[in-house]
Amino acid sequence: MITEDQVRTALGTVVDPLLEHDIVSYRILRGFELSGEDVLVRLDIPTHAYPVPSRRELQQRIETALKPLGAKRVTVIADVSTAFTPAPSDKAVLKGPKNVLAVAAGKGGVGKSTVAVNLALALAKHGARVGLLDADVFGPSIPTMLGSPEVPAQASKDSKIIPAKMHGLSVVSVGFFVDKDEAVVWRGPMVHRLLQQFLGDVEWGDLDYLVCDLPPGTGDVQLSLSQLIPIAGAVMVTTPQEVSIVDVVKGIAMFEKVEIPILGIVENMSYYKCPACGHTDEIFSHGGGKRLAQEVGTKFFGEIPIDTRIRFGGDAGVPVIVASPDSENARLFMDLATKAALEIARLVLSKPKRTPRLAVIK
Ligand SMILES: Nc1ncnc2c1ncn2[C@@H]1O[C@H](COP(=O)(O)OP(=O)(O)OP(=O)(O)O)[C@@H](O)[C@H]1O
Ligand SMILES: [Mg+2]
Repeated sequence: MITEDQVRTALGTVVDPLLEHDIVSYRILRGFELSGEDVLVRLDIPTHAYPVPSRRELQQRIETALKPLGAKRVTVIADVSTAFTPAPSDKAVLKGPKNVLAVAAGKGGVGKSTVAVNLALALAKHGARVGLLDADVFGPSIPTMLGSPEVPAQASKDSKIIPAKMHGLSVVSVGFFVDKDEAVVWRGPMVHRLLQQFLGDVEWGDLDYLVCDLPPGTGDVQLSLSQLIPIAGAVMVTTPQEVSIVDVVKGIAMFEKVEIPILGIVENMSYYKCPACGHTDEIFSHGGGKRLAQEVGTKFFGEIPIDTRIRFGGDAGVPVIVASPDSENARLFMDLATKAALEIARLVLSKPKRTPRLAVIK
């Protein structure tokens, strides 16, 4: 006769293959039902981007843990329940998104917007509900990169902004409201007010992730965002050469100062693979991102090659993940999305769940 205690103890030994932590304390196990020698196990997978082979591996581990108890039939039902970055009450300006993910770099032109767009699309392709905020008030490029919206941004009855629908993403960009050729020269307090209004006035709806494309550097936008909304973490983009690496180090230092976790580093324009002959050339040298990740003790999320199809996708408004969803480039962005989403899940689940504070009645 199997007892509930035995099942509970056995499940407590199961380690998640990706998060490398037991499924009980990381709240991946929602519960189980025992009837005779049959066990039904219910799991909360913390992100849509959790790869299918790892789900199978997790199921296998559960079966392996329960079989020695004499369990005849083990059924595992896994639902996705996106891990949620809690919002302190002073940062409640944003309603709807469960996690805000910033894409940043120290330097301009290294591919932040390209990575932000393809990362957001990749998360959506994994099955998550995703928004994209173009927070580059100085040079918004998301409208160009995503082309014409299927549904343009609108005002709701109570004068809130309803995001545009672009390739399945909910999108808001400063570029929707400011003329493209107008030089946007905002000063700090204006940037803060703009973002405050922007963030508070958008009806994002229920989103698993809101990806924020940031302007280069360590300026007012980064500071304002960190004050206004709870950011789950930042993905730092660098190119391999030393000048970019140095600036990313400055970017990381700034995020640490404002207590935004660094999720990991991605090296963009990492190498060039000739489509005709297959020869690989390291135009800007190679490996700087990986080295940097080791030095600062963060994850390395991989390398994206320099590829005409990536640039063209951005210029033409059809990002590579939409234009060629089965390409190697698309696979690299899907992989980046998995790594970033898992890192957010790890950060959320490694903290004990906060119990709601009871109001003191006087
Ligand atoms: N991996 C890549 N292969 C080819 N072209 C790329 C790649 N990544 C980015 N680009 C191109 O490089 C240019 C700059 O990229 P992007 O606008 O994404 O950079 P950014 O860091 O957001 O720039 P800014 O600092 O101006 O915001 C764009 O024309 C883009 O299409
Ligand atoms: Mg940009």
